Amino acid sequence: MTVDAAWAALSKAAEAARGRRITDLFRTEPERLGRLSLSAAGLELDLSKHPWSLADLESMVDLARASGVETARGMLFAGGVVNASEGRPALHMALRAADGADFRAAGQPISGEVEATRAAMRAFSDEVRDGRRRGAAGRPFRAIVHIGIGGSDLGPRLVWEALRPAAPGIDLRFAANVDPAELALALTGLDPAETLVVIVSKTFTTLETLTNAETARAWLRAALGPEADSHLVAVSAAPDKAQAFGVPPDQVFGFWDWVGGRYSIWSAVGLSCAVALGFDVFERMLAGARAMDAHFQKAPLALNAPVLLALAHIFNRNGLGRPIRAVVPYAQRLRLFAAFLQQLEMESNGKRVTADGRPAPHPTAASVFGDAGTNGQHAFFQLLHQGTDVVPLDIVAVAQGSEGDPAAQRKLLANAVAQAEALLAGRSEDAVRAELAAAGRPADEIDALAPQRAFPGDRPSTFILLERLDPERLGALVALYEHKTFVEGVIWGINSFDQWGVELGKTLAARVLAELEGGAATAHDPSTAALIARLKS
Ligand code: F6P
Repeated sequence: MTVDAAWAALSKAAEAARGRRITDLFRTEPERLGRLSLSAAGLELDLSKHPWSLADLESMVDLARASGVETARGMLFAGGVVNASEGRPALHMALRAADGADFRAAGQPISGEVEATRAAMRAFSDEVRDGRRRGAAGRPFRAIVHIGIGGSDLGPRLVWEALRPAAPGIDLRFAANVDPAELALALTGLDPAETLVVIVSKTFTTLETLTNAETARAWLRAALGPEADSHLVAVSAAPDKAQAFGVPPDQVFGFWDWVGGRYSIWSAVGLSCAVALGFDVFERMLAGARAMDAHFQKAPLALNAPVLLALAHIFNRNGLGRPIRAVVPYAQRLRLFAAFLQQLEMESNGKRVTADGRPAPHPTAASVFGDAGTNGQHAFFQLLHQGTDVVPLDIVAVAQGSEGDPAAQRKLLANAVAQAEALLAGRSEDAVRAELAAAGRPADEIDALAPQRAFPGDRPSTFILLERLDPERLGALVALYEHKTFVEGVIWGINSFDQWGVELGKTLAARVLAELEGGAATAHDPSTAALIARLKS
């Protein structure tokens, strides 16, 4: 089948989907649930509450095949230049491969360097944790301030919140924003003599990170004098810049240009977590992601979790024109998952031009938002149930809670299941009318109230269940969405690994800053000029 024919089949399938309800499909397709449920790397996925029929699923798999997903997947794992605009492979899978792997970036062997860095990370984290590596005043480290932004922040923050002990031996804090309030809060109550500052920046040029790193370095130097820089650690693909900043060479951990920022948690970017959680925990997370890599690489398209997740999203996004989707983890520890996915999906696939520079023929990434369940239910679920737009929802739930009252955990799970059911089933206006009539409400009141209290239903959701939130399943979950994002990018014909769209704002911010600091005025639109004048006044 040609790509054009596969897209035409999607339009036709979506047309048919508009004329039926998902619940009809459960009646007409007895094997539906079995066919649309799958397990991969310890995750259980249910994709049956989507508007596609089983026949549509087959056409969507044809779309993936016709778009070259299998070839692109081969190229990704082989270290081909999948990021053409920057001339780079994207080899996050090499970072989580077992020792002895032979990944190559554009033909050059890289697994040896990966293993050497991993060994250095293990040695460093063991030494910090057991007190062999101490601060300038001879005291053991009890806190880490992790400074980084975007991909150098969101993954580590997610991992820490997901896996941290309630009372950690090492207090890990984060500062990303250039808003000085965040670093000030992160440093509050910490003793510089017992604090490591881990500066994470692939480029080591990022305004926010360097600003915060300078402030943190000054904080250390004010307390510890000339020895303070021994409390600095850096993770960067530009190690020379990190050393020039004052980080001792044996505390600079490298990574490579073939690691995209938002795909970098598996590299030394995860060092703060590895130290604070213990290296074994970090390695278990790598193992979980590795299991998902193996599944993605080997499973046929029609049974492949990242591929089917991508296809369900594309059916909604492109077939049914749904530009927004929501992600709700029913696990407080995964509260930051939506924020993580915002960068992963929107920075990867928020593109309007194909990898060869032509206008993208189809709409690309949906906007993603979300928060932890049940909290989101008391905020934005009103719109999910009754808003004018249909917003497909991904629910992530954890069967066995990691701590606390099992009865509360059951209530949490009941809500996860019930929300998906309510979105699907809805509640007809007739049923509401009958209820109001039975309650003796007058007819005119029923006419006004019933439409407001009815639920249209037929609102799709994906349900992803983790038996436990352990390091392996967390790794698998993140890798699932990484590969899903890649598959979508291939089908849309875009480069998922660059991010030119973040550059213009950075350039203009430098110009505005120069003006706020007294430099000569440059040309602006009237609104911008007025704002600058106001802030200078
Ligand atoms: O501004 C976007 C971005 O380039 C992200 O892609 C990246 O994760 C983030 O900034 C941080 O970049 P760095 O790690 O180089 O400081």
